[in-house]
Amino acid sequence: PAVVVEGVIDLDLPGHTISRHVYGHFAEHLGRCIYGGFYVGEDSPIPNEGGIRLDVVEALRALDIPNLRWPGGCFADDYHWKHGIGPRDQRPRMVNSHWGDVVEDNSFGTHEFMALCELLGTEPYISANVGSGTVEETSDWVQYLTRGDDSPMADLRRANGRDEPWKVTYWGLGNEPWGCGGNMSAEAYAALARQFATYSRDMGDNKLYRIAAGATNADYRWTEVLMKALGRALGDGEVLGHGNSSFQAISFHCYTVAGPWERKGSATDFDTDEYYAVMAQAQRIEGVLAGHAKVMDAYDPDKRVGLVLDEWGTWFDVEPGTNPGFLFQQNALRDALVASVHFDGFHRHADRLVMANIAQTVNVLQAMILTDEDSGALVLTPSYHVFEMNKGHQDAAHLPVHLRGAAPTRTVAGVVGIGGHVPDRSDVELTTVSVSASTKDGAALVSLTNLDAEAPVTVRLDLRGVAVGELTARLLTADAPQAHNTPQQDDAVAPRAFDGARVEDGVLVVELPAHSFATVSLPLV
Ligand code: AHR
Repeated sequence: PAVVVEGVIDLDLPGHTISRHVYGHFAEHLGRCIYGGFYVGEDSPIPNEGGIRLDVVEALRALDIPNLRWPGGCFADDYHWKHGIGPRDQRPRMVNSHWGDVVEDNSFGTHEFMALCELLGTEPYISANVGSGTVEETSDWVQYLTRGDDSPMADLRRANGRDEPWKVTYWGLGNEPWGCGGNMSAEAYAALARQFATYSRDMGDNKLYRIAAGATNADYRWTEVLMKALGRALGDGEVLGHGNSSFQAISFHCYTVAGPWERKGSATDFDTDEYYAVMAQAQRIEGVLAGHAKVMDAYDPDKRVGLVLDEWGTWFDVEPGTNPGFLFQQNALRDALVASVHFDGFHRHADRLVMANIAQTVNVLQAMILTDEDSGALVLTPSYHVFEMNKGHQDAAHLPVHLRGAAPTRTVAGVVGIGGHVPDRSDVELTTVSVSASTKDGAALVSLTNLDAEAPVTVRLDLRGVAVGELTARLLTADAPQAHNTPQQDDAVAPRAFDGARVEDGVLVVELPAHSFATVSLPLV
């Protein structure tokens, strides 16, 4: 018989709002994410608008993607935006030294990115160059994007074909300054972040939400140094940021690396031990979120400063025969379960976590979409389907799920430390059932994951406080966690209608197969 997990959802006690921005995305000038992914150029036989692939746009519109981070990543701190404006054939070229040492022709620049955001119906999140750029360059970019009057940068934008300023809210101050963004100490970066924040000014009605580049993984000290650097802004209780030298949020990055880093493993060719090692890594996100939040709570108990996880996802070895600098990996059902576990953690911590960005949207790391280099064929990955099935949580009110008794666990031996650090190997107790819920527009959405590779589980949740109508349920699974989609078989892993969920005497009963993810939508009556 299947293991039974029991619990309670109080449908009438909604908590914090889950910002839609935790379903955010990331597109870097890296491998085939921009070029060949989002952007194929106007002369491509692939249907496009201004060079932007329309099938990619259509697929992403179905996810309601709330924001798109660009141009990096490490690339952001090498990027000089003035090289990416004006006639394309006159734009200077550069070397993308982080990613494959390839020549970048700057044909996808500010105007192309903003056009992409408009096509997607999403908000831009732009990362300014703090590592190798100047304060003046950053200040000019803000003016170019958001200033409406007769002034030098606004005039330059008009000369390049765009009259009206754009609306830009999310503004990143560099990327990974402890590493590729300048190899700085936290203290050195904190000073620079304040300086760049000062000159990243609000223009007219456009209010920037400045995001300081933060820690790697569980480097809570970095977060603490940045919180201290906010100093006066926090102490005086001013509105954070507008007109002073502060930032409104602090980011961090946390990838799922089952390491060691030199041998991260294949995205599709793995055994059961490797499957569990990845799941054990993925579930650690909850502790890391709690760790950063705890530091921030000490300085900012009212939670005015946001926490942003602007890079997360699986990082495996590149597919055989592909450029090691392009970070192209397949995407299996296992990746989908990594995503669903992350979202459960995001929902629970959304009182502090204001944004998260999957790395990366197309053809890089844990992608939503893979495009075939030769045929151009587009494939939706299993991870894409989790984003789609979960989109009802965007801007919904969190409903805590209280499990009764101990959830099923299994010991995963010798898991490397966060980020693939071998010396930190330890045994991890993996909880094999993960559930989260929210409510919006007169309905509740419950997301359930069974991480057990072999055994089914039955989840029984008392639905308290509000009566429910007829449910609809969907299931994402396959014969094996290694299952993935290809141009030849693009629906090997795709959501199906699910008849394993029912309400019996006010109890939601869900029979989850092994290695599966399900969503249940319940109208509240
Ligand atoms: O997403 C790939 C890279 O990972 C990013 O450029 C960098 O910020 C991180 O190290």
